[in-house]
Amino acid sequence: MAEKKKMSVAEILAAARAKSGGGIAPSAPAATPAADESVAESPPAADSEASPEAKPARKPAPEPAAAKAAGGARPSVSDILAAARAKKAAAGEAAPADKPKPAPADKPKPAAKPAAAASAATAAAASAPKTGVQRDTASILSAARGGAKPGPVSKADAPPAVAAKIQAAAKPKPAPSSAEKAPVVRAAPVMPVRPAKPAAKKDGEEDRRGFLEIAMGSFLAMGFTALSVTGGLFTLGLARYMFPNVLAEPPSRFKVGFKEGFPSGKVETKFVPQYGVWVVNSEFQGQQQIYALKTVCTHLGCTPNWLEAEQKFKCPCHGSGFYKDGVNFEGPAPRPLERYAIRISDDGQLEIDKSKAFQEELGQWADPDSYVTV
Ligand code: FES
Repeated sequence: MAEKKKMSVAEILAAARAKSGGGIAPSAPAATPAADESVAESPPAADSEASPEAKPARKPAPEPAAAKAAGGARPSVSDILAAARAKKAAAGEAAPADKPKPAPADKPKPAAKPAAAASAATAAAASAPKTGVQRDTASILSAARGGAKPGPVSKADAPPAVAAKIQAAAKPKPAPSSAEKAPVVRAAPVMPVRPAKPAAKKDGEEDRRGFLEIAMGSFLAMGFTALSVTGGLFTLGLARYMFPNVLAEPPSRFKVGFKEGFPSGKVETKFVPQYGVWVVNSEFQGQQQIYALKTVCTHLGCTPNWLEAEQKFKCPCHGSGFYKDGVNFEGPAPRPLERYAIRISDDGQLEIDKSKAFQEELGQWADPDSYVTV
């Protein structure tokens, strides 16, 4: 009992496949729910023997399985397991044959199933070495390890030959060299065809031509600029000639009105802004005269002011003073004011002529053209 070794699922499946001689596909009828349950919860042989009552209860249809095994049909997973256990027992690892089968007398069918499965497994085990076919990796590994450990092993546990193979497989392969790499060829886009350039000229020739072009362009630009300026000036001169600048000066001869409009002792200043003339009705050398005084200071040319209250002309520039008859009496003015010619025109008005002046220091005030008697 104590020496009985517990079978793993891999061993059970290997034995079953060996029994069936490769006729059972990995996903064949064992995929049924009942079969899966029996495989997944496959109890150890000792347990199954210890509880003979539970085993018939889990296997709802032992009779058809036994019938199939007996008739040579494809066994179910339960049959396979039973056959594997029987094989194990037959191999001598345990002594199930010595042990009484739990099958009671009143339940002959479950007892018959292991017997039939054991016979089938024995036949398969006998035939498997003949064919030499091991279908799965676990079986191969188990055979390679000499049955030491059926499942996966570490490097330390592996035999030297297997460890050498694992190391050779785990060794990284050398990277392919650049020469071995396949070149990546990409399709180049279609480029438009560039028109052929004319033959390149020599550098010296291009420089000379460029300089000449620039020089000619500069000369032409300067010539056209000068021509434009000359034309503009000529146009301005012609316009000036055609439309001369006329100075709007007042006429030198003008009428100031009738002499009745100039009462005795009166200095009329209203013609100063326009004509620069005072029209005075005053006595000079015992004679009542109307004369026209020029409004220009004889010192430096300023325009004196008539001061009615003081009855004098006063120059604002340097203070020269002149009497009502125009004779200077103070300030820097060197001589009396000048008179314009005056006469009675054809229409009876007083007419003043500024083109003719009379100076007192020269005795010209005695000229009858320099006054009009009242
Ligand atoms: Fe009239 Fe000098 S300008 S006083």
